[in-house]
Amino acid sequence: MKYVIGVDLGTSAVKVLLVNQHGEVCDEVSQAYPLLHEKSGYSEQEPNEWVEKTTLALKELIDRFDGDVTSIEGISFSGQMHGLVLLNEEKEVLRNAILWNDTRTTAQCEKIYEVVGNERLLEITKNPALEGFTLPKLLWVQENEPEIFERAAVFLLPKDYLRYHMTGQIHAEYSDAAGTLLLDIQKKAWSEEMCKLFGVDLTICPPLVESHHLVGTITAQFAFETGLSEATKVFAGGADNACGAIGAGILSEGKTLCSIGTSGVILSHEQRGDREFEGKVHYFNHGKKDAYYTMGVTLSAGHSLSWFKDTFAQNEDFETLLQGLEDVPAGANGLLYTPYLSGERTPHADADIRGSFIGMSASHKRIDFARAVIEGITFSLCESIDIFRESGKKIETIVSIGGGAKNETWLQIQADIFDAVIVKLENEQGPAMGAAMLAAYGAGWFPSLDECADTFIRTVKEFHPNEDNVKAYKALFEIYKMIYENTKTLNKALKPFRG
Ligand code: XUL
Repeated sequence: MKYVIGVDLGTSAVKVLLVNQHGEVCDEVSQAYPLLHEKSGYSEQEPNEWVEKTTLALKELIDRFDGDVTSIEGISFSGQMHGLVLLNEEKEVLRNAILWNDTRTTAQCEKIYEVVGNERLLEITKNPALEGFTLPKLLWVQENEPEIFERAAVFLLPKDYLRYHMTGQIHAEYSDAAGTLLLDIQKKAWSEEMCKLFGVDLTICPPLVESHHLVGTITAQFAFETGLSEATKVFAGGADNACGAIGAGILSEGKTLCSIGTSGVILSHEQRGDREFEGKVHYFNHGKKDAYYTMGVTLSAGHSLSWFKDTFAQNEDFETLLQGLEDVPAGANGLLYTPYLSGERTPHADADIRGSFIGMSASHKRIDFARAVIEGITFSLCESIDIFRESGKKIETIVSIGGGAKNETWLQIQADIFDAVIVKLENEQGPAMGAAMLAAYGAGWFPSLDECADTFIRTVKEFHPNEDNVKAYKALFEIYKMIYENTKTLNKALKPFRG
């Protein structure tokens, strides 16, 4: 039997997954690391903490593995997107990584629009300037820490730094590079124009490869530290959303994904790179060669529910918290929630908006609030589905993965709010499986990623929309959509009082 490993470098933990030739998960190890919030809106991590925790996780996986380590043929990666890692000439880390959910860069986003203009920005990058993306972070360092910016010899995205540590080779790949605002996504090249306009030396942009590209093998030192064979082939990997899509078989036109992790996304496959969404949704290169995907993002999706549990049910698990969820009617007895805990991306790119519960009364129980949180996250994702439907896309079936796919009542709520059939996968592993598939395809096990998906991915259950609930949710969705405009000014006014 042959094996590959998928490494998912997430925001709260790294997960390593051992997968065999049939796509069966043979073992899995996770290691958590903290988020550093030095100030409100700041979100950073130490790149070497990613390396340490991945090394530990791989070592544990190999210690438990009773086969021959040379049968583990390849390894590839999925990574949290957009994070800025800066290295000096000696390839040493210059400062903590600034992460995708850091919102300090509103002024830099405004500068991007002033300098390049919305139209040209969309022509080159196909995306709006959002606080989470990489270029605004680079400009923040340029303005606020010029001595660090001067010493930067290369910038890397999170999983690309991890891969550099394992191989000694510096690369980026298209799916993650697309989230920097420095890539011309149709030409698949770093944009000289963008670099020039913002005083970014083109030489700090790493060489670009395809996601399934073989970048090398692991170093003797890394083999020694983990127990992996030195012959283990290392493939570039992809952005977590691209890998989530690969791992769910979103590899051809018409396929749509709902992925609920810390953030939540609705993602749709695009064969072409030249459609116009005017920046309303993100438009990125896929991990499948020459394909793309479009995506709407709810920043605090799973995070809304974990925040709710940690704040109001600290000593309980999710199962206890959600007991009786199915008995609460659609609309949580007149309670609505907006998931804007740390601002929002789609459809409201607004770093200042904050969440609300609307309609509270003394008759509401905790379970009504839990249902309202789940419905609010799902309504927010439905706003992205609306954008896709308005652009002419048919969305009738959606594969659901991540935390949101763990609870069957939530899957039914997705079917009812999205008015689409929701597909649950057997052995759903999200981005780590996509990463393993990139290694399996890269290693030549399959002639295409699609054929790998045919072997690795199986549907286990479908959830069909319930007509009465669809009707109720359609009416509630209209009210939900009004909350943003009605709370925007209030939240701006509250800004000075935030901790
Ligand atoms: C996508 C985004 C998040 C991160 C989470 O644009 O910022 O989904 O990739 O890891």
